[in-house]
Amino acid sequence: MKGLKFYIKDSLKNHYALGAFNFVNMEMLKGIAEGAKETRSPAIVSVSEGAFAYTDENFVKGLYESARKSYKDVPLFLHLDHGKSFEMCKKAVDLNFDSVMIDGSALPFEENVLVTKKVVDYAHAHGVLVEAELGVLRGIEDNVSAEENVYTNPESAEEFVRRTGCDTLAVAIGTSHGAYKFSGEATLRFDILSEIEKRLPDYPLVLHGASSVPQKYVEVINKFGGEVTGAKGVDENLLKKACREHNIFKINTDTDLRLAYISTVRKHLAKNPNNIDLRKFNTLAIEEIKNLVADKNRCFNNINRI
Ligand code: G3H
Ligand code: 13P
Ligand code: ZN
Repeated sequence: MKGLKFYIKDSLKNHYALGAFNFVNMEMLKGIAEGAKETRSPAIVSVSEGAFAYTDENFVKGLYESARKSYKDVPLFLHLDHGKSFEMCKKAVDLNFDSVMIDGSALPFEENVLVTKKVVDYAHAHGVLVEAELGVLRGIEDNVSAEENVYTNPESAEEFVRRTGCDTLAVAIGTSHGAYKFSGEATLRFDILSEIEKRLPDYPLVLHGASSVPQKYVEVINKFGGEVTGAKGVDENLLKKACREHNIFKINTDTDLRLAYISTVRKHLAKNPNNIDLRKFNTLAIEEIKNLVADKNRCFNNINRI
């Protein structure tokens, strides 16, 4: 089977992106694998530090290895999402992850360079790819928090990649983590992205905080006892543009999977108050995530790429 390096090059050459989908349990991972199988797409399956803490390293590896066995023809790549320290990244490298992200974006530039370079040296010695981040995304997740966007500076991006040797770079162009991305107009700074690409030609870039927050899920959650009023994501047309006209090769999606899962569970339990068999709603949730991931792959121009 072709490796992640192949798909990074192939995606840039053929103007598509790989979804990087977060999982925290078997159901999410199975849904992602099913969706990738449906569209014949490579997919990156991401584990955050929070997901590591929720499960543990044996569960993470065990779930991933089981998925590889059950979906032999589907390229699934295991990735550490938002590793905050060298130690965390080392742990993922030692567990044979395909790639690790060192997120030093909240650090001063020089410190970000230092920790990223240290991770690159260790990971490359073990054949593992490294994603780094420059610029800050507004966000509310456990391990990712910042008050406001600080867009990636194109000049600094060039220097950062040259000095660290990171394989891919996450850029901040207006997206943010979570279900509440825009209070005003939902736009992305494609002008900044183009400037970065001028300075780093043919270099693979990553878009975090890229969930589109489908309103069909928001409505179901709100209808059946939830409260995610005002949730708003990235317009799918912007994502289409990012991977077809720019060098965004990886599009991170977590919130949409959570919304798909939770809306399914809420609706099922509201309509079936007597049910205490969790397989019933989890089966539906896997199916919903499968459909969501297949739709994402179509949006990312990632179909029949295997
Ligand atoms: O970008 C962050 C991901 O959505 C992971 O979130 O730290 O709550 O697992 P988490
Ligand atoms: P969302 O919250 O938009 O799904 O972003 C996920 C992400 O960037 C994971 O690294
Ligand atoms: Zn992220």
